[in-house]
Amino acid sequence: MNVAPSFSTNSTPNLPAAALSIPHLTYVPETMLWALYNRAAEAERTDGVLADPDSVRIHKSIDYDFQGRFGSPAGSLAVRAAAIDDVLRQWLKRHPNGLVVSLGEGLETQSRRVDNGTMRWLSVDLPEAIAFREQFLKPTDRFRHIAASALDVAWMDGLDTERGVFIVAQGLLMYLRPEAVRGLLSTIADRFPGAEMVFDVVPRWFSSLTAIGLRQTPQYRLPPMPWGLDRDEATSTLRRWHPRLTAVAFLDYRLPRGPSQPAGSHVPMLRTERPSLIHLTIGTAPCPSTTRIQSMTSNQTDPRAPGTIGDMVALARQTAGSGSDLAVAAGQVIAKRVALGVAAAVNPMAADHAEFARMVPEKVEAFSAAGMVMAAKTEEVRSQLTRFASHEVMTATRAAFEMATSLNPMSLMEAQTRFAQAWFGRAHSNFMALGMMALRAQAAALSPLQTAVAANTERLA
Ligand SMILES: C[S@@+](CC[C@H](N)C(=O)[O-])C[C@H]1O[C@@H](n2cnc3c(N)ncnc32)[C@H](O)[C@@H]1O
Repeated sequence: MNVAPSFSTNSTPNLPAAALSIPHLTYVPETMLWALYNRAAEAERTDGVLADPDSVRIHKSIDYDFQGRFGSPAGSLAVRAAAIDDVLRQWLKRHPNGLVVSLGEGLETQSRRVDNGTMRWLSVDLPEAIAFREQFLKPTDRFRHIAASALDVAWMDGLDTERGVFIVAQGLLMYLRPEAVRGLLSTIADRFPGAEMVFDVVPRWFSSLTAIGLRQTPQYRLPPMPWGLDRDEATSTLRRWHPRLTAVAFLDYRLPRGPSQPAGSHVPMLRTERPSLIHLTIGTAPCPSTTRIQSMTSNQTDPRAPGTIGDMVALARQTAGSGSDLAVAAGQVIAKRVALGVAAAVNPMAADHAEFARMVPEKVEAFSAAGMVMAAKTEEVRSQLTRFASHEVMTATRAAFEMATSLNPMSLMEAQTRFAQAWFGRAHSNFMALGMMALRAQAAALSPLQTAVAANTERLA
């Protein structure tokens, strides 16, 4: 249901006298304020990744409690904007008089940041968003506005495409139905051969969580993002959608500060499960013309509709490896707990705290019980088990703290993926060590672990 949040009151003190009250923005258009806030905050930092005086000016002019509603900005949306700026600047060197079309542009000031003085720019957004934009950024001959849905192909008509076309869809496509995205990208491929395009995507698990009411802060629930696409399926999906959507590249997309590696990049299963920034070059090969408009609005479902947390558990089960029955069962428990971790990471308020609270004492108890039997056998085994138990305690405590103090989806995802990495890394070595111990020790030594895993599996199934 599209619910217009009520946020016209201001709780931010000392606004400039000229501060503007915002109109009654609906669900998705409100997200433009979040993106603006991210860029303005980054632009005001001395170590920020974006120079953007226009965003700072607009942000200061709007009478709105940004911090109260969206929480602290992590800078990820500023990184996204800066990465697209770089690609655009390169493209403008080759097409100085080219046309950039920015779909769902909101209050983005990218046209001002990359302006070379001769390029042309077309902003397409919903009428309420364009009306708001025009309070701060007036259209001119070179900077035009169209107040319409990006799904209304009328914006494609009458464009001067002779000097090159670049299409930006920043922070837009995830809010559209998969079949609408497919229709839009296919129509763009039909109409603009040789053009380039950049857009961002969220992974399927994140899309699924927004469908059930993911909150950015206690005050702000993210609008549903029906289109999710995992990194490892992007190229094949786009190619299947249209034969000209073949040249797919990924831009660097990470938090501006923090770990040097993107979240989850060392874990095969998680490598694909983070937001991506895609740079497409649309091919020029002749292809059969098709009517795309129908598919942009039809109810036809995508063959790979967004998955659920259950899909993630199933995938983890497949990849958990097959060793002893204990290893398999423990793999399932870990997979389920990783899924719980993901859910807790993106929505800490709704996390299964009872399950998290059980994890530590239960594991300590099981490993300690096994350890007592094993200790009679060898000192080496005892110290190994103690190490496992203390690692479990440390990781679970650190993860719980990080997730509790994360304030936005990107930093929550960072915390979660670090947590998941730790689980997988330890699971692997623990299983190996347990396997060796199983060969050496009496079956009795493993029974406390089996009991704990069986109880876990039954409870979490
Ligand atoms: C998250 S904001 C992104 C704004 C801007 N691209 C940025 O990064 O700052 C999403 C934008 O998409 C716009 N939008 C949503 N649905 C749209 C549609 N069907 N056609 C065009 N714009 C749309 C909203 O009005 C809003 O401005």
